Amino acid sequence: MRSDGIIVAIDGPAGVGKSTVGKLVAGRLGYRFISTGKMYRALAWKALETGAGLEDDEKLVALAGSLKWEFPRGSGPEADVSLDGRRLALELAEERVSKASSGIARLAGVRLFMRGMQREAGLNGGVVMEGRDIGTNVFPDAELKIYLDASPQARAARRTSQLRGQGLEADYAQILDFIIKRDAQDSGRKNNPLKKAEDAFYLDSTVMPRDKVVDAILELFRTRVEDLKI
Ligand code: DC
Repeated sequence: MRSDGIIVAIDGPAGVGKSTVGKLVAGRLGYRFISTGKMYRALAWKALETGAGLEDDEKLVALAGSLKWEFPRGSGPEADVSLDGRRLALELAEERVSKASSGIARLAGVRLFMRGMQREAGLNGGVVMEGRDIGTNVFPDAELKIYLDASPQARAARRTSQLRGQGLEADYAQILDFIIKRDAQDSGRKNNPLKKAEDAFYLDSTVMPRDKVVDAILELFRTRVEDLKI
């Protein structure tokens, strides 16, 4: 048994609500929440800032290793990413960063580096960790694995209304196109592609409201903890 609780791994495609749902679940359980996508985004941002290039795996790993990575906790369950003392937030949501992060996430060395950091962050449990390969590669022994899915159309519609709700312009067709391309990139890559772990619970949230998804995960958590006799 891990000292702080179990590991809840949530994997699934872009825009499916893993972060929103994961944060709510973590909050209810008093667990930490870690978005591993933010780590890829932070490295991609740094590479763009420094003009390091996005294709050279070795150089990117050297860059990642030269940085001071910290995961300071804010007021909620979510850990922020800070690089060399600079806390990153809005920068990571930029479109160019999304694209670049999906690109560098193909590279084997970059993935190994990230896995090392992710394992260290989750080792003691008491954590909800979301990404693409948490249940298959980072923590294949996670006590609870969820694969959260939704149709590309539902994800694009949610993202569109989310952006418009923030007063930003959003074009549904463009967002849908972007989601389909990212799905292909994340699932089609050679190294640790997005896929459901055999022992993960599949939750399709296409027509399921967010609160129901959270409740379903909490219920699976309770059953799992009972089974494990923790
Ligand atoms: O979840 P996100 O959109 O913030 O992730 C950014 C990119 O990082 C995404 O395109 C795929 C990649 N990623 C990954 O390959 N493995 C993870 N565990 C998390 C993210």
